[in-house]
Amino acid sequence: MFLALNERQHIARLFDFLLEGELLAYDCASKQVDLFNDKQTKKFLNNQARQEKFHCKVFKSGIGILTPRGISNTPGKKEMQQYRTLITEALERGDKAESLLGMQIMLEGLGDVAVKHISAGFEYRQLGYLCQRVRHLILGQEDAHHAFGLNRFEQLFNDQPIPDYLISRSQDYLELLEQLIFSVSELFDYFDEQSSQYMDEFYLDLPDWIYPIRS
Ligand SMILES: [Fe+2]
Ligand SMILES: [Fe+2]
Repeated sequence: MFLALNERQHIARLFDFLLEGELLAYDCASKQVDLFNDKQTKKFLNNQARQEKFHCKVFKSGIGILTPRGISNTPGKKEMQQYRTLITEALERGDKAESLLGMQIMLEGLGDVAVKHISAGFEYRQLGYLCQRVRHLILGQEDAHHAFGLNRFEQLFNDQPIPDYLISRSQDYLELLEQLIFSVSELFDYFDEQSSQYMDEFYLDLPDWIYPIRS
């Protein structure tokens, strides 16, 4: 199917936004390797970092192919930078639990929902031929990163109550994620989808102790 220039621009900007998330996931997983002492976790995180690096390459090449002359301004970068600051602070404090919360549980949880919808949108718009195998590979890997975060976080507390500061921190992450996803809603319009739908689906997959922020 022929893609008009504005459609190419649109998809490339969406990829550029996703690339920011992938870069953050790569930086975070690479640093998390040093926080954990057990071999299994280190091995998973090393693999995750390798996979995130590959995801970055995929999105970068996609942008280059779609828009060889470059893209216009991509929304969401300021919000992603704020999210990066919060995660970086947790990593610098050596806070394993918060790093898992902010990255694998939350950012990757929402990323997982968004990438699933985008991939389905490609199929629906008969663009399914675009890198189908790579899309499915990335989806499987993102699912695994999110599931790992949920399990490893649970192991850290081993049925002990979740500390209050993490419960309150989860609200900070949620607030930023909500701002992030709404700042890029025009990018999802292409697929006729709503950012609020992404948030609703994302909430369904979070542990019970993380409350939706809005009452
Ligand atoms: Fe990724
Ligand atoms: Fe990931």
